[in-house]
Formats: sequence, structure tokens, C-alpha cells
Amino acid sequence: MVYAADFALPGMLHGKVLRSPLPHARIRRLDVAAARAMAGVRGIVTAADVPAVRYGTAVRDTPVFATDRVLFQGQAVAAVAATTPEIAEAACRAIALELDPLPAVFDAEAALAPDAPLLHPDWASYAALPVLAREGNIAARARMRHGDVEAAFASAHRIYEHRFATPLQHPGYTEPRAAVAAWEGDGRLTVWCNTQLPFDMQAVLAEILDIPSGRVRVVVPGIGGGFGGKLRVGVEHYAALLARRTGRPVKVMTTTEEELTAAYPRQATTITLRTAVDREGRLLARQGRVLLECGAFANSGPGSAAICMQILVGPYRTPALDLESLAVYTNRVAAGSFRAPAGPMANFAVESQMDIIAEDLGMDPLDLRLRNVVREGDLGPAGEALAGVSVAECLERAAEAIGWRERRPAPNRGKGLACSWWMTTGGSSGVFVRLAPDGTATLVSGAVEIGTGALTGAAQVLAEELGLELEDVRVAGADTRDAPFDYGAQGSRTAFSVGNAARVAAAELRRQLCALAARRTGLPQEAFRLERRAVVGGGHRIPIADLARESQLSGGGLIAHGTYINPAPPYDPTRVENHPLPVFNAPSFHAHAVDLSVDPGTGEVTIHDYVVAQDVGFAINPTWIEGQIEGGVAQGIGEALSEEIVYREGRVLNANLTDYKMPTAQDVPRVRSILVECPSAAGPYGAKGVGEPPCIEPPAAIANAIAAATGRRVFSLPMTAEKIVLGEGG
Ligand code: MOS
Repeated sequence: MVYAADFALPGMLHGKVLRSPLPHARIRRLDVAAARAMAGVRGIVTAADVPAVRYGTAVRDTPVFATDRVLFQGQAVAAVAATTPEIAEAACRAIALELDPLPAVFDAEAALAPDAPLLHPDWASYAALPVLAREGNIAARARMRHGDVEAAFASAHRIYEHRFATPLQHPGYTEPRAAVAAWEGDGRLTVWCNTQLPFDMQAVLAEILDIPSGRVRVVVPGIGGGFGGKLRVGVEHYAALLARRTGRPVKVMTTTEEELTAAYPRQATTITLRTAVDREGRLLARQGRVLLECGAFANSGPGSAAICMQILVGPYRTPALDLESLAVYTNRVAAGSFRAPAGPMANFAVESQMDIIAEDLGMDPLDLRLRNVVREGDLGPAGEALAGVSVAECLERAAEAIGWRERRPAPNRGKGLACSWWMTTGGSSGVFVRLAPDGTATLVSGAVEIGTGALTGAAQVLAEELGLELEDVRVAGADTRDAPFDYGAQGSRTAFSVGNAARVAAAELRRQLCALAARRTGLPQEAFRLERRAVVGGGHRIPIADLARESQLSGGGLIAHGTYINPAPPYDPTRVENHPLPVFNAPSFHAHAVDLSVDPGTGEVTIHDYVVAQDVGFAINPTWIEGQIEGGVAQGIGEALSEEIVYREGRVLNANLTDYKMPTAQDVPRVRSILVECPSAAGPYGAKGVGEPPCIEPPAAIANAIAAATGRRVFSLPMTAEKIVLGEGG
């Protein structure tokens, strides 16, 4: 498999990006003359050379290069193309960039202070999603509420209030972001890159380059992991601009240092959660505030901050609710959506607090959860009717598997539980399917296989529906020139949505095949079905290959398309304000359980056993799903215990993989997966999204197990050995 990072063209130049060394500064001087004169340098672009367009997902606040000011350490200021990457790098160093530092804000609370410097003084002039409420450093403010919260708190048996904090986490994909761009003589651009969203990339590049989108072709060869970090334009626009400037193909690929200072990490959050309960531990009301730091540009922050509220409600019956979320600008890296965006952060808060409540009321944390979890037909936080609800079963099976009744099996050893829910994201998918004369099928999809096996799942669905084997189906790689539109590999939607589109196309092919069989035999079309590579019925068995050949000669060939969109379920609009994603489609439910020990002297955490009970609706491919679960848990363990992009005064201290500590094979235990199958109404065979959920619960489950083992609770991630032993002040 050729990955985007491997991709090369003859005569290709290499591009490098000059990035701001300061978190907030006015650009006094930017002079590229010396760099341009260097041997091997073929072209340089800065803000002066590109259209003054601002792009962005929710808010159009992001320029290609810094113009008058830089807003974070790592913001692009210029890009250089040269004959080698080394020359391009040397040329970046030769660019004269003189900066006058400005006062900056490095966390959301500081950014909200009345006298805080504004990152975007012109925020009001930016185009944005109409649903968003914005002001100053607040990129978006949203709210979810219902019931009489005041009365509930006034009548409560107990009230609990806690504050939780989570840091920036890098998505940790193996392959850096990479793009090769080449222009043809007629003004058409092709970009080979590792984006998760080729059609979105096509549209954004067209806008940045100021050309019709039909002139931009985005091709995704292999992609070495994305996890949300490859949703947005990363280096593709620099490659395209440099290629246009030089008239040569240009490749741009990030270094580890760029990844850790200028990629799209999981947003940092501060969450305050206040909960009222009755004497029996029933939840009466919740009140809370999410501050989600989007960094210098909004990117996915408004959506992530808002979804944080749904996860903060948890899969629990909550009679009264008042939650507010703010996505806030700061002078740090423009963060993004990373696998279950906002999920682990909010789950860490709500599920840590559930254990605190259980402890205080003298209840078993499992019993407290089971008393409060949502059941089939209950209303979700936006007033939507919940269906396919399985959280109680997930909790019971995870607890059973971990040996829950013996929660503290040895000194310094303890077990923890956490549960959550998550959406299967909507958005449309189209596919073309063609049956070749050898009886094999080609599935043409604009979706990207990012390593989850989701397109294998869609191919399995197609094979099943056509009576073929998986080996008979070939999936054509994502190419915006040739493939039908797909909303992209995001939000755990690919197998669900592409699988459903494939079912629609298969139904049409089935109709065509049965009609051919009817014509050949004189039997009615309804007499036939597809089975084991043949059309079967009325004593006949006609190979699909025969009919495909026949159709090519006399019937135009066997070809069909299918499209699918999963519309959002109805909800109560009075419960939400300014919420871009008010309701979860086809929700999944899950519970994690962990058994671990903490070394009382060093604080080192050793995980003995880890169990995930996840409702996948229907397990299309159990092996791939288990792989997703294991990978998600590994990322969740990193977030729980060790991963953090550490800043001091707006500068990253650990922009390397020695000091940015991702778990390795030595740190990840065997993960046991229990696949619960409580079908969704919409998914293929009842399937629900599976990719994102596994990284939601690990921080909370591990926090609860650490508390069970040590009696100490950590309220901020990562829960380093130092915090466990010395406390969080140190
Ligand atoms: Mo995901 S964060 O929608 O790739």
C-alpha cells in the first residue's frame, strides 16, 4: 500500500513551512529576499501572495498565513519550496521575521476576563454557522436545559460540585500529515494527501486557491491513521500554493515538532459539574459549565464544546438540567476534534463524580449507575426518544467480567467502572457498484479507509446483499474526480452510512439480475434470489458472472448507485440553544471496567485487566471491531495517564516523542472485548458506529480504579504518578 507520505512524482520539489516562534505578536518585518536567493530554492509564498480568504468549519476565522499578527506558536507565516527538504528548511531559517510580542491568553478562563486581549478583534465580521452565538474570545456559546433546576437543587438530599481539567492530546497517528500537489497546464490541480474528508478538502482548497472546485482533484492513497487529526486542511494548501508558484509538483510533510506544535490536538477543557441527588441516590438535577479551549482558531471547537454537554448528561435519567458550553479562543495551537471529540473529557467529569457520589452515599458505584441509567424509550437530553438502549447490559457485563464484587482485591489494588454513550454521525454517502463479467463487484465510494476497517465492513454488506464473498468485492480508493460524494471518514459513520448506501445499490443490482434471470427462464422475477455467486430459483442456478457477461453484450452492463442519509431524530427545540449538534443519531452505549494497582511509593499504575462491553448494534466484522476497541483503549490510557502537550507561557515544552508520552506496547494491557448487539433501527443489520467510543471511558474508569486502590482522586488529566502520590498542586 502506498501511503500519502510515500507518494512521489518525478521532478517534485519539497516544501517547508516557517512557523511563528511566539504565541502572540505583531509582525514588524517579513523579508524573504535572502531566502529566495539561496541555491536550490524555487519559490516562496507568504500572506502577500495568497487571496485574503478566511476559511473554517464553524467560523471562517483562519487565514492561510499570518497577516499582521501571529496568534500562536506554530502558526504558518511563509512556505518555501526547494529541491530538497533540507534546503527548504535552511531557507525558512533565512527568512527575516521580526516580531513585537503582544499580551496573550493561555487558558480559557484568562481569555474570558473582561480586559483580556482579543484574538480576533474582527470576529463579528467573520462568516459563521448561523446557529452559533459568538462574542469576543467566545467562538461559540451553547446551552441545554429543561426542568426546574432550582427546585431540584433546593429539595436535594445532597449536592456535589467538582471541577475537572483535561489537556491537549495529540491524535498520535503513525503517518505525518502529507500532501503532494501538481498542476496541469489547463489550470487543474491534483492533490494526493491523507485527508479524512476528500470532498471537504476539495471545497476548501478551491476557496483558498480561488478556482472552481471542479478544477481541484483530491486523491487519498493509503492513510496511516487520522483519529480526527486529518479532518481539516493541514499541509495540502501549502503544497498547492507552492506548486502553483513554482510550476512543479511539491510535497509537504510535517515533522514531529510540527505535529506537536501545529497539528489539531484534542481540545483542553475545564468542566464544572454540579449534581443534586435524593436519599436513594437518584439524580434530580445537573448544572454545569464547559470551557473548551479551541486555541487560536475555532476549527471544530464549537461542535465539540456543544457535544460535551450530551456526554456530561451521560446515559442517565436527568429530570432537570442546565448546562452551558463555551468554545474559547486562546493563544495556543488551534485544536481540533480527536476521536469522540469532547467525549473523554466530559465522561471523565461525570463518571468521576458518579463514583464520588456513590462513595459519599455509601452505595456501590455499579448500583448507583444502574439506578440512574436510561432505559428503552426514555428521553435523551434534547428530548429525543432513545431507542436501542443497552447501557445497563453493558455495565452488568463489564462488571461481571472484571469481578466487580471484589473491588479491592489487594492493598493498593482497585477496580473502576465508567459508562457512556455516543452518536453515529449522519451525513450523506453515495456509492456506485459495478458487476464485472467475472462476477466480481467494484464498490466506488468517496469515503476514506483510515484504518478502521469500516470500508471492509461496507464491502461485507455489499457481498452479503449480492450473494458474493468478501473477496469478490473490490473497493475503489477515494478520488473526488470519480467517486460519488461522501461526508467522509468521521464520527463513527463510515460502515453505517456507506454500508447502507451499498445496500441500496445492491437492491437495484438484485432487481437487474433477477430480471435477466426471469427473461432467460420465463419465470417471474420474484422467483429468484441471490445466493453463493448465483441467481437461484425455480430449480435454476445461473452464475452472476454469466448474467453480467450477458448484460454487457445485450443489456448495457450491470451497474447501480445507492445513496443514504440518516436524518437526525426529532427533538425538543426548547431544550437547546445555539447547539450545532443537538441530538445524537443511532446512539451506541458502552461500559469499561479496569483492574489496576498503584505503587504507593512511585505512583506507577499497572493495569492488570481491562474489559470493554460495547453495544455495536450488529457486529459486521468482530475482528476489526475488537481492533478498534483495543486501539481506542490504548489512546484512552495515554490520555488518562501520560499524554499532554505541555505549554509554558504559550510555548510547547515537549514537542518530541521522547517527552510527549504515548503509551507503547509495554503500557497497554490485554483488552477484553464484549460485543453487545442491541440493534439500531437505521444501521445495516442494526449496526451502530463503533470507531470512536472506545476512547471515551478509559480516563474515568482508570480514575475510579485509582481512587479505589489508593483512596486518592485526581481531578485533572493526565493522572501522572506525581499527581497520584504528591497531589495536584505539585
Ligand atoms: Mo472523528 S474526531 O469525527 O475523525
